[in-house]
Amino acid sequence: EKEKFREKELESVSSKDMEDYIGFANLPNQVYRKAVKRGFDFTILVVGESGLGKSTLINSLFFTDIYSNEYPGPSQRIKKTVQVETSKVILRENGVNLTLTIVDTPGFGDAVDNSVCWQPVLNYVESKYEDYLHAESRVHRTTIVDTRVHCCLYFISPGHGLKPLDLEFMKKLHDKVNLIPLVAKADTMTPEECNQFKKTVLNEITQSKIRIYEFPDCDDEEENKHQKRIKERIPFAVVGSNVIVEANGKRVRGRKYPWGVVEVENMEHCDFVALRNIMIRTHLQDLKDVTNNIHYENYRCLKLGAVGKSGTTANKNPLAHMEEERKDHENKMKRMEREMEQVFDMKVKEKLNKLRESESELNRRSEQMRKTLDQQKRELYQKWKEFEKERTTFEVTNQDMDDTHRRLTLTLDMS
Ligand code: GTP
Repeated sequence: EKEKFREKELESVSSKDMEDYIGFANLPNQVYRKAVKRGFDFTILVVGESGLGKSTLINSLFFTDIYSNEYPGPSQRIKKTVQVETSKVILRENGVNLTLTIVDTPGFGDAVDNSVCWQPVLNYVESKYEDYLHAESRVHRTTIVDTRVHCCLYFISPGHGLKPLDLEFMKKLHDKVNLIPLVAKADTMTPEECNQFKKTVLNEITQSKIRIYEFPDCDDEEENKHQKRIKERIPFAVVGSNVIVEANGKRVRGRKYPWGVVEVENMEHCDFVALRNIMIRTHLQDLKDVTNNIHYENYRCLKLGAVGKSGTTANKNPLAHMEEERKDHENKMKRMEREMEQVFDMKVKEKLNKLRESESELNRRSEQMRKTLDQQKRELYQKWKEFEKERTTFEVTNQDMDDTHRRLTLTLDMS
């Protein structure tokens, strides 16, 4: 695609225009390269009543990677999800890295009092916005890792319609996150029942003024027609499975019943493929953009709007927060400076002590050598004196002998 784009770009520049060609038409390529190098982050949150197949569906969506990595498929799970569980997986396709985070939440509706069952989910979503806001307003901003929830898959139990709890839950979430409603365990209904149920659910959602994520149209006419057919399937009716079964001589992911096999990836059996395509293949970036430009922006405005109105530390002014951080940083630098000075002083003292020690050692050794030399000098002097004495004695003796010899010679001559 990149090559095609480059060719198109060059074609569009006729030789006459070549002189005026500046080159900013190459900008998309630069953005493309940068984006590919950086990789993509995407976080999916799954929410719904207990036992609706949330974990199974997530496992089915990114089967191989998640199954063989850290995501525990239901067959491997000992018990149901009891707390917010986050699993991360890095998917790689044609050199593009997608860091996918799946947040599985405990199924609700089991407790006697479900009046605040949405709170852990809301807390999670908001805590991620808070983290992002905090990272954005730091004095020293490094690359911010986007852990915000980009998409929330809301599981609806098959039945007569939405339950009051579903409506209440979705109302709590719809202005905080991109909500995609799913009809769970679609294999428990006939196609007619399923279609009827979808219509009822969609009506109830509209009547309750719940805003679900709207998949925008794309520029391509042909693609739009195809996407329209997919959008008509909302709320997506899904079937999950983490086993491979045999159907019509093929090995497929599905659920085997005495009367046949429900194929997860068969568009005639359920909307699983449609959901996966629209969420990952065609609208991933839009889900991220809506999260950033609408939901996060709302959160940010509310937070910043609270500035000044409340003096509590929880709603601290970001500017004051930055000032505080700057002071913290200054104090930290001063502390480091003091520590470095202390270390320097200590090192200088150590060095001086060592120098003093080696100086006294040298003095001691030179004193010892001086003593040895004095001793040797005294001994040599003593020896020299003895030698002198011997020499004098020898000379006297020699002189006597010479005299005697001379006298003898004289006596002999005279005789
Ligand atoms: P909690 O952890 O309690 O929230 O449950 P959950 O929503 O994560 O459900 P889970 O994936 O653990 O599945 C619960 C049961 O439903 C398991 O026995 C699954 O095999 C079964 N199940 C999952 N998906 C489907 C489906 O599409 N159709 C049918 N018929 N059963 C399903």
